[in-house]
Amino acid sequence: MFTILEALPPDPILGLSAAYRADTRDTKIDLGVGVYKTETGQTPVMRAIKAAEKQLFEEENSKSYIAQVGVEAYNEGIIRLMLGDDHDAVRSGRVRSVMTPGGTGALRIASELIKRMNGDATVWLGDPTWANHYPVIRGAGLSIETYPYYDKDKSQILFDAMMATLDKAREGDAVLLHGCCHNPCGADLSAEQWQAIAELVERKGILPFVDLAYQGFGTGLEEDAYGVRLLADKVPEVLVASSCSKNFGLYRERTGSITAITASAEAASVAESHMTNIARAIYSMPPAHGGFLAGLVMQDQALRTDWIGELTEMRNRMNALRGLFVRKMKATGVDQDFAFIENQFGMFSFLGITPDQIKRLRDEFAIYIVGSSRINVAGISEANIDYLTTSLATVLK
Ligand code: LMR
Repeated sequence: MFTILEALPPDPILGLSAAYRADTRDTKIDLGVGVYKTETGQTPVMRAIKAAEKQLFEEENSKSYIAQVGVEAYNEGIIRLMLGDDHDAVRSGRVRSVMTPGGTGALRIASELIKRMNGDATVWLGDPTWANHYPVIRGAGLSIETYPYYDKDKSQILFDAMMATLDKAREGDAVLLHGCCHNPCGADLSAEQWQAIAELVERKGILPFVDLAYQGFGTGLEEDAYGVRLLADKVPEVLVASSCSKNFGLYRERTGSITAITASAEAASVAESHMTNIARAIYSMPPAHGGFLAGLVMQDQALRTDWIGELTEMRNRMNALRGLFVRKMKATGVDQDFAFIENQFGMFSFLGITPDQIKRLRDEFAIYIVGSSRINVAGISEANIDYLTTSLATVLK
């Protein structure tokens, strides 16, 4: 049987990490996969998570199965983080969150749920979007169409074209939106644009399906939830796939959530029964460890304060690196203007360079960026910035 299979190419993002690890050059720089890094290139366990881990070690007295929905304290914390402490949808019992194996697991449960609600639904993805959206959504048997989102040459959001395209969506379709810190382009929707989208999806009967993987990495935990909260205010039904990989640094613990905001408490309860039923057929229930940790951090005032403090340090560091990169590139005297990078949010931006230049960066300078020219700004440091910018200037000239 196995001889029927043909080997597949490496994953466009995760494959890059493997190639980077295998590179023996000591000047190598990893601007590929979206993981946060410190000045010394470490991806630390966050302080509050470490403290919660100690507490959990002392207190956990069983490894028996957890509930199908996951860790209740975690689910409650995630809903509050997403919608705030006093949202009407929460007060009226219209929101249910189920813990998932990472944001990817959440995206898959959401896609399966959309398929159950409307077998003919098309999911509209922005061009560009996270490469893995395609296989995850297609894996649930849904069709995909795209809407224009970002012009790499002009470094701006194609909002009019986006709206004109989404106007062609049919009732019962879903539109995937990046809640904040757009992956891969870093260009986020303005408050007015979110408002216009809320009006469009409501008018057309399209389900907003939000990927919220970077809350706290853009401008702040509250600010980054603006789009989701606005949709939850204006539109009766919203699906949100969220992740604790980045903002809690829980990457390998695979800790995420699928959250359904529905029109009534009854509909929320029915949606939950389907979300757990879908999960049961794939992996039964989510891994518990990350949910226990994030749940403890969100519940305990001291841990929560420390977590928010460290998250703020991380965000400030990424924003400072954006500014430093722009200034250093300017100083090299290249023609290209990278000023837009300072106005973008989160971990990612496109450099807007050619495939050949991307290959040269890797082959000649051991600098790894994703094939779309996406960089992870957190991989830049004071120590590597000069090597990075002079190397980039060399391939640009
Ligand atoms: C990324 O886009 O680099 C991250 O979301 C990691 C991943 O799984 O692709």
